[in-house]
Amino acid sequence: MKISKPMAQMNNLEGLLEGEGISHAAKLLKDISFIYENAEGCDPETVMYEVCTCERAQKGKKGDLLWGLSILHPVRINGECCMTRGHWHVDRDCAEFYYGIKGRGLLLMMDEKGECFGEEVFPGSLHYIDGRYAHRLINTSADEDLKVGACWPVTAGHDYAATEKQPFTVRVFLENGEVVCR
Ligand SMILES: [Fe+2]
Repeated sequence: MKISKPMAQMNNLEGLLEGEGISHAAKLLKDISFIYENAEGCDPETVMYEVCTCERAQKGKKGDLLWGLSILHPVRINGECCMTRGHWHVDRDCAEFYYGIKGRGLLLMMDEKGECFGEEVFPGSLHYIDGRYAHRLINTSADEDLKVGACWPVTAGHDYAATEKQPFTVRVFLENGEVVCR
């Protein structure tokens, strides 16, 4: 029997997902300033979050899976916590798993009527995201990265247009060390 090295390694505490065929992208504030209530006065070059994706999946092949790691930095934009852009899946039948690796945060979900609900994210937390819900990660820590692993079908697709047309109806702030949703 041939025993091989794993295709990639996830450095849970420090570092990223590293290995062959792993893409790495950074989102700067200027790319996503429109998702915040007020980004005025904040440095547009601030790195908000990073995403590593295992690109091994065969594009569009039904049943194939993608694996990702998101790292949200502990940055606030005029008090509003760092968050991912958020999306629905193009194919609402495709679900997704998230799991918490490091830090503290929230998984914010929203149904098509605009009703929001959340789940706490922490090291070891596991989250099943029904394809009917828009989803976004939020780092609620003042000083620690939030790292979250994800697995989803390659056929899911990211429907960003839908969340731009119907934005999340809840915002999360860190005020005097308290997490405030409004
Ligand atoms: Fe997703």
